[in-house]
Amino acid sequence: MHPRTDTSRSARILLPLALAALSACGGGGDGGQAPPADDPLLLAQGQQVFRYDTFGDESQWTDTLRMHEVIAAAVDPLTALSVGLKVDSEALPPAVVQGISDGSIDLTSPQTTVALIALNAVVGLQGTVESVGGTNTLTRVGVTCALCHSTVDDSFAPGIGKRLDGWPNRDLDPGAIIALSPTLAPATQAIYRSWGKGRYDPRFNLDGISSPQVIPPAYGLRGIDRITTTGDGDTIAYWNRYVAVTQMGGHGSFTDARIGVDVRNGTTDRVSDQLPALQAYQLSLDAPRPPAGSFDPVAAQRGQLLFGGQAKCSTCHSGPHFTDANERLHPAADVVSEPEPDGAPSWASRSATRQYRTTPLAGVWQHPPYFHNGSAATLEDVVDTYNRRKLLGLSTQQAADLVQYLKSL
Ligand code: HEC
Ligand code: HEC
Repeated sequence: MHPRTDTSRSARILLPLALAALSACGGGGDGGQAPPADDPLLLAQGQQVFRYDTFGDESQWTDTLRMHEVIAAAVDPLTALSVGLKVDSEALPPAVVQGISDGSIDLTSPQTTVALIALNAVVGLQGTVESVGGTNTLTRVGVTCALCHSTVDDSFAPGIGKRLDGWPNRDLDPGAIIALSPTLAPATQAIYRSWGKGRYDPRFNLDGISSPQVIPPAYGLRGIDRITTTGDGDTIAYWNRYVAVTQMGGHGSFTDARIGVDVRNGTTDRVSDQLPALQAYQLSLDAPRPPAGSFDPVAAQRGQLLFGGQAKCSTCHSGPHFTDANERLHPAADVVSEPEPDGAPSWASRSATRQYRTTPLAGVWQHPPYFHNGSAATLEDVVDTYNRRKLLGLSTQQAADLVQYLKSL
């Protein structure tokens, strides 16, 4: 797109700016998600952890997977955006915003990606950029929770905007990113590449089964004790530790005899001390309200009556959070999302509880596709599936009303 001379010019402009900005500030602003006032310090710390803490997982992403080399060699910003990585516009100094707007910053140069990482502007990636032989070089890279559980509002450009913490990044293709690692065998790369956008299998590296899950929201969980699709943990910290250690590669340990997992990374524990703040921050993230005009309120009212009546949804999606998770879990035979696609074993069978948790529904309008395996593309598909599998006898009009109600939550 830009001639080669542009590349070096923009790198000359951008890198010093990036490095200057880095030394001038210690990390992002509040991103517009004002935490509740209960313990502002704890919440601010938790936000830092959620957005920027790698727990030392550079050991995995740099030393083992060598992702820093791939990024520096081949991942220009347009490629990064195409695999769903997001750019935090609030981390960009005005001159960089200007340079992206007027095209003087080259979005087809991997050096620009390195500069954006140095600015702490690539959501969920943390890097160390050092001068090596006079060239600014990405020497370490790691990932944070925000990689999968934050997106941006696209207010500057598609993929570039203000952070939306807790929103699942359904554009992100984690498998495609991991598959770039030169240290993986081609057959393993092929498995990672098969997962697709918005999906990740957080057990594959432990049990060897590939059956990716839809990345869920990390918002709207306050008041709900059972975490994850299968309710494996009694507090959110259970799963936070699981992911930080066993998936991200953070330094610390995770043990659960129910799933035969016992992982210890590094010699220090960089996870445990962060868990209280991380949990407090996550619990402060409210589910987003549906946009004005996105549903028909009169039809939604009729749908609400069906939800608690003929459609029997509230027998499981009960109470203020639309879930009975705090009282019980459900056997796989109860869910309409099984069998798994491609003949994979039941997701529940790979979990600690071997059951399913009723999913809370606030903000459900925001994150299609639905069910743990994404087997329903839309809320229409969800209702249609329940109607068929549970023999609800809903008419076309009733099904449409129920969909409008779901869109209002
Ligand atoms: C590579 C992508 C990825 C990263 C990074 C990641 N997660 Fe997740 N997360 C997932 C997937 C996939 C699931 C679904 C697992 C399930 O439900 O069984 C999930 C589930 C969750 C849930 C359960 C939500 C619910 O409805 O109960 C929480 C909470 C969560 N993650 C928090 C975190 C935190 C905190 C971090 C950082 C320590 C993190 N995740 C890092 C992919 C990711
Ligand atoms: C027997 C208990 C039960 C009943 C009855 C039930 N659900 Fe569910 N629901 C669940 C469970 C468990 C899940 C999680 C399944 C999964 O992820 O595969 C779920 C998932 C969902 C989801 C997906 C949410 C997401 O984030 O992907 C929606 C939407 C939903 N249910 C709506 C409904 C509606 C509408 C009805 C009534 C027609 C209904 N449910 C009836 C237990 C139930």
